[in-house]
Amino acid sequence: MNKLPGQNGIAIWLFGLSGAGKSTIAILLERMLAERGIFSIRLDGDELRDGVNKGLGFSDDDRSENIRRTAEIARLLTGNNVITICSLITPLGRHRKIARDILGDKIFEVFVDCPLEVCANRDVKGLYKKAKAQMIEKFTGFDSSFEKPDIPTFTISTQGSKVEECASAIIESLISRIRIPLLPLADGDESVMLSACI
Ligand code: ADX
Repeated sequence: MNKLPGQNGIAIWLFGLSGAGKSTIAILLERMLAERGIFSIRLDGDELRDGVNKGLGFSDDDRSENIRRTAEIARLLTGNNVITICSLITPLGRHRKIARDILGDKIFEVFVDCPLEVCANRDVKGLYKKAKAQMIEKFTGFDSSFEKPDIPTFTISTQGSKVEECASAIIESLISRIRIPLLPLADGDESVMLSACI
């Protein structure tokens, strides 16, 4: 299969509490990259759970399988130079390790940090209300744990920040970390930093 020319694949793995802003940032990232001619695909926890991960619940094992499958899809995509934006809660250190082990140097982990109380106040999907009323179980931050990263991790705080600032910070960080070659020139060995594409 021909790989997508002109860019290198990376999985931008956004993790954090429900309501922290992962999906919103992912959508904006996709648009900002597209505006710069960079093709990306989003793999969102909620959307995957409607399809490829249908039937998986929120036990530790089911979350692990959810994350494993998503990372495997991301591996195939990044292997073909697609920027893959994954937005899943990925609550535990060992869940993040599953993704890391599958994706190796193709993962760029981003902790989307927001206090539980702020997420619960936002409650965009009404799930915090349901969790408080014990209408749903194993809800992350209530009766299911979320572990903040205990290894150095690129972190963006969405409390009081504009989503544009968050997405820009991620792109800025990618600029310094990832070389994205332009379409090969005649001699085929020219490449530039992503900054040149932006
Ligand atoms: S993960 O833990 O396996 O990474 P994932 O990101 O796929 O989670 O799915 C989380 C989404 O499922 C939440 O954004 C929310 O919309 C929905 N959801 C439904 N029930 C729960 C629950 N018990 N815990 C967390 N999220 C839930």
